[in-house]
Amino acid sequence: MKINEIYNLAIEMGIKADFRGEEGVRKFLENKRKQYEKLNQKEKEEFDPEALKNPYLDSRIYHIADDKEIKRALVGIDVEPAEILLAKEIGSADSGIDLIIGHHPRGKGLAHLADVMELQCDVLNFYGVPINIAEGLMKEKIEEVARQTNTANHQRTVDAAKIMKLNLMNSHTPCDNLAAKFLKNLIEQEEPERIGELMDLLKEVPEYKEAMKIGAGPKIFVGAPENRCGKIALTEITGGTEGSPKLYEKMANAGIGTVIGMHISEEHKKQAEESNINVVIAGHISSDSLGMNLFLDELEKQGIEIIPCSGLIRVSRVK
Ligand SMILES: [Fe+2]
Ligand SMILES: [Fe+2]
Repeated sequence: MKINEIYNLAIEMGIKADFRGEEGVRKFLENKRKQYEKLNQKEKEEFDPEALKNPYLDSRIYHIADDKEIKRALVGIDVEPAEILLAKEIGSADSGIDLIIGHHPRGKGLAHLADVMELQCDVLNFYGVPINIAEGLMKEKIEEVARQTNTANHQRTVDAAKIMKLNLMNSHTPCDNLAAKFLKNLIEQEEPERIGELMDLLKEVPEYKEAMKIGAGPKIFVGAPENRCGKIALTEITGGTEGSPKLYEKMANAGIGTVIGMHISEEHKKQAEESNINVVIAGHISSDSLGMNLFLDELEKQGIEIIPCSGLIRVSRVK
């Protein structure tokens, strides 16, 4: 497989696992096209054309130094200049790294992180929060994230890849979609009644089992093992980054009893507590690993060797 094929596969898999459904994603892109058509010529020139075909602008190809057949990829959760140097170092020791794949966005992917957050409105709506409320509360948060990511040194890692002449891409929301879908299926299949049962279920997932060995396994942040789960929502696994803390009250009103997330801030935890919503934090890097692994398995099937780094807990489900 070549880099573009690998990249397109990630996007395709992300769409298939998307809470909006393929039709919902199509509508999202259609809406982008309508917005584009309303722009004047100058604004059109400033518009990122990728937005018309890719619903996940936080996932990009950053640099193609050599468009070769990919046989070996170095894959990490956070790819920074250290990982670029690592790839170079491995390369000088043996047959080399053909492609570096990160999870968290860099470069223009990071600059566009806020763009994928609209997905959270649809996920919340899927679990019963009225779309107007989800959109109203998320709007503020999306703007806040756009301002925050604006402070970053976006191109630092990309520059390192260019200097070292290494291929670089990332897959963020497509892989988080895969993790969310995996967990949703698991919960629907097993229907845990109490938080303790939900915890036991999560602890059976190999990535979380591995994370437990270093003390980063699933944890109950709000609630207790004997609490009933009620309706379990996967509202905090995919969609860029954390949503609005004001949403918990609305989620409680929509009948959600338990939220499974990757990570949670103190402010969010406080609001969840006040709304009597149980919060189970599955784990950040372990959940990111789960989503990446489901994608990487497809690359492994194509004969690509995966070398994990930067926190990636590589578990292959290829039999
Ligand atoms: Fe993630
Ligand atoms: Fe993450």
